[in-house]
Amino acid sequence: MQQSRRDFISLSTRALMLAIGADLGLFALPQAATGNFGSARLPVPGRQGLFGLLTPEGKLTLTAAEVKGALPATGAPMLVYSARHKGEAYLNPVLVLRKGQPFEATLVNSLQEPTIIHWHGVDCPWKQAGHPSYAIGPNGSYEYSFPITNRAGTYWYHPHPHGLTAKQAYMGLASFFIVRDDEEEALAKELDLQLGETDIPMVIQDKRLTHQGLLDYSPSRDDLMMGYLGDTILVNGQSSPTLKTSTRLYRFRLLNGSTARIYNLSFVADGRQLPFLLIGNDGGFLPAPQQTDGLFLAPGERADVLLDMSSLAPGQEVFLQNMPFDSMHNEGDMMGMGGMMNMGHAVGGASMNHAQGGEGHVMSAGGHGGGHGTHGVLEEGVSYPIARLLVDRAVVYTRKPPTRLPDMPEPPSGGLERPISLAMRHMGGWTINDLTFDMDSAPIVVNRRGPEIWHISNAKASMPHPMHLHGYFYRVQQRSGSPEQVKKRAVDAQGRLATDLGYKDTVLVWPGETVSVSIDFSRPQYPGEQLFLFHCHNLEHEDQGMMLNVRVV
Ligand code: C2O
Ligand code: CU
Ligand code: CU
Repeated sequence: MQQSRRDFISLSTRALMLAIGADLGLFALPQAATGNFGSARLPVPGRQGLFGLLTPEGKLTLTAAEVKGALPATGAPMLVYSARHKGEAYLNPVLVLRKGQPFEATLVNSLQEPTIIHWHGVDCPWKQAGHPSYAIGPNGSYEYSFPITNRAGTYWYHPHPHGLTAKQAYMGLASFFIVRDDEEEALAKELDLQLGETDIPMVIQDKRLTHQGLLDYSPSRDDLMMGYLGDTILVNGQSSPTLKTSTRLYRFRLLNGSTARIYNLSFVADGRQLPFLLIGNDGGFLPAPQQTDGLFLAPGERADVLLDMSSLAPGQEVFLQNMPFDSMHNEGDMMGMGGMMNMGHAVGGASMNHAQGGEGHVMSAGGHGGGHGTHGVLEEGVSYPIARLLVDRAVVYTRKPPTRLPDMPEPPSGGLERPISLAMRHMGGWTINDLTFDMDSAPIVVNRRGPEIWHISNAKASMPHPMHLHGYFYRVQQRSGSPEQVKKRAVDAQGRLATDLGYKDTVLVWPGETVSVSIDFSRPQYPGEQLFLFHCHNLEHEDQGMMLNVRVV
């Protein structure tokens, strides 16, 4: 990888760029792939700038626009939501709100194409939730106003114009929407956690970077079918970033903001997976903390974790690492093409050993994407490091990880049972109940505002689909037909995973699997008829029509 980089940039230019980069902290050479941990720092939400923490007072204006030099990894232009608030400038602000607070924002579209914001996981009536029929054209604007009724938790926002969601999110439009309340703040206090210091939102996204370091979104037909995979993994916009830590407990709010890539995440030190506590997911705190050493995180999902580094010593490194798994792209079987569809994913190119060494710490890059002057695609199911935590300060930390969490209200369950099937259409294209998106029809009608049970079944010859519902949360009841790698993480007799406990808005359904979820359509009690969306959060799938309107009467 080093080699190919030198082919494009002479050593002297490289040295100069590094010098400038070191000064300004915004320019780095394009990484051929993830895994060269050097001086790149993890961009941590601060008081302004990219991912700055913004607690809106009064109405906020978010302008979707391209901003030059915005991408921390390479200094490339990216699309961002820019905002000004109390004299500070923000790009993709991390919005921090309190439960009960009103939220008011104006979206201004300074793109060359339609857009609209969706507040993913945030309770709001459908006209506030970024339904694609409300997408606004260039120079248009859209007004949002609703009260924050969510539980404390880690939500997010991103574009939702039909057919353009993947590209716009990929080019940079996405950030966090954090809701806090008294109980969450009490826990933070108890654990001495500070947002932006020891409580760190991390959005994980894979990108294809051109040799010039530009973001490349140019999906082939195969990519649209399977999802667009990148060659470089970014965390908060930086590749192979390092966070300097002290010997204490940290909270990481992990968001998979990739268009298609699924991660199998662990924290690894000296070749060993460290235990960590999962305390929350899509819809706030779990009923109780769950100790684990790894979790799957699909596009759209969040995992709120506590990692205790108090027993580590300065100088030690912990890697947030993707662990090997079967990415289960079985769709080829159905095509009767003997796995032809998988060919685009075949590992072809280089592989390299990560410096950390040890078994399984190998990353490899596949052989396609060359036509766009990008590097090879990084396989989904191989092991690769994502971020490095470098312990550099010893501190005395005596707080104990929590054994319980704030109460979680249990919604009613039962009601109408709805089978939902996910499959590939004969001539290609993913479907829900054999249908694809039609702006003007609502194939799912919820007639009674009470609980329902949805049995979401994925075909065997399929691929994993993270299924997301707007407006309401799921409670996962059961997983059946799960593949071995999922089954072995089950924490109860219903086959549920630690990440299924609590409230979910996006649930990963593996090939051959049925995930049964209950949904309480009486909460929130939105006024009047609602038109929400149910879709796959593999954003290529969504844009290709793996989405249905859900009418709630
Ligand atoms: Cu995060 Cu409808 O999406
Ligand atoms: Cu959503
Ligand atoms: Cu999908």
